[in-house]
Amino acid sequence: MTENSLLTRYQQVRQQSLLACDPLQVEDYGLQAEAFTSPPKWHLAHTSWFFETFLLKPFLPGYQTPDERYEFLFNSYYNGVGSQFSRAHRGLLSRPSVDVVKQYRAHVDTAMERLLSDSDHQHRQTLLERTRLGVEHEQQHQELFYTDLKYSLYANPLLPEYSGSVGAPDSDARAGELAREPQWSEYAGGLVTVGRDIDSASDQAFAFDNEGPLNSVFLAPFALARTLVTNAQFQNFVDDGGYRRPEFWLADGWAVVQENKWQQPLYWLEREGKPMQFTLHGLQRREPGQPACHLSGYEADAYASWAGARLPTEFEWEHAAVEQWSQAVASDARKLHPTMAEGEEPLLQLYGDCWQWTGSAYRPYPGFRPAAGAIGEYNGKFMANQWVLRGGSCATSQGHSRPSYRNFFYPQDRWQFSGIRLARDI
Ligand SMILES: [Fe+2]
Repeated sequence: MTENSLLTRYQQVRQQSLLACDPLQVEDYGLQAEAFTSPPKWHLAHTSWFFETFLLKPFLPGYQTPDERYEFLFNSYYNGVGSQFSRAHRGLLSRPSVDVVKQYRAHVDTAMERLLSDSDHQHRQTLLERTRLGVEHEQQHQELFYTDLKYSLYANPLLPEYSGSVGAPDSDARAGELAREPQWSEYAGGLVTVGRDIDSASDQAFAFDNEGPLNSVFLAPFALARTLVTNAQFQNFVDDGGYRRPEFWLADGWAVVQENKWQQPLYWLEREGKPMQFTLHGLQRREPGQPACHLSGYEADAYASWAGARLPTEFEWEHAAVEQWSQAVASDARKLHPTMAEGEEPLLQLYGDCWQWTGSAYRPYPGFRPAAGAIGEYNGKFMANQWVLRGGSCATSQGHSRPSYRNFFYPQDRWQFSGIRLARDI
């Protein structure tokens, strides 16, 4: 990426975060239904804090923050920077106001543009690398903005919508096709290379540190389902007592089902006997051919077990996805709700619908080394007790997806746009 295009990309991505707020009422900016979600206003401020903390304070001489206390308020989890305001109470931050947070963003943007225009800066390479990281970080928060907001809006019995745009109803004939036995794409496996060469990635498409280094893995022959599990298919699991039959569940997953009294996916509702689902476009008909979404890893695993299949490993997924990778495939516009599978490729719905749970634990690749200093806390310290998800979703920012991307959440988490692509041995 050239330096000019980096500045343009910075500006575009920063602008996108504000555009996403256009449909909000001012009361929405502080919503935080649970500790694991963050309010829209906090996302706006924290992403600015990231540029301020890792670029402006260390590298722009004379930079003045508008308020020293923001370092504490908007630090997410970087212990190397300092202590942090309670995550569970971010919704209580009625000050700084929305207007003041937007001024903070503008202040950071002006300073960033000054910093990036200094082509003789002695730390130029570090500036460029960290700016790229900050831009990708902001895109991650753009997705969290949507998933957190959806969760918080759902806590309101009025079920407010975020935006009104919604497509035409699905074709029931196509939905019926998708509800039948999955079609499979087969892969020979063998010794394959996965991951990214992070050290030489500076001139290539971006990669987070957790995507590298390159490593070799052996894959036995396997098949992946061409499409994601649909609502109709998942309904069959529910109707077959899926949430009441421990034989399909991992022990930890079964405990979570009992504790939370789960009986169906998050956002599934019935109204006057009709299957409905809550979406960012409000309460909608639960389309049978759309992917089952907002599933935890435990639910994904239990479904796979019930279906006589399994979840893919992250390496199977990546190996198969690389074979049909093109930017065009991943550049689907954000539609904020997953849609029915269409197309001819061996694997459909890789990036633009639901993240796909894998059965792989989120652990470092051989040779992984986090960066020195606080910025090294970005990914590495979360490599315990989480599962990897691959692909992307209908809420993922444009240009943010790639085959080597490793998303990660706890297996009980289900507020992300997460679904199921089945795998099996052949
Ligand atoms: Fe963050």
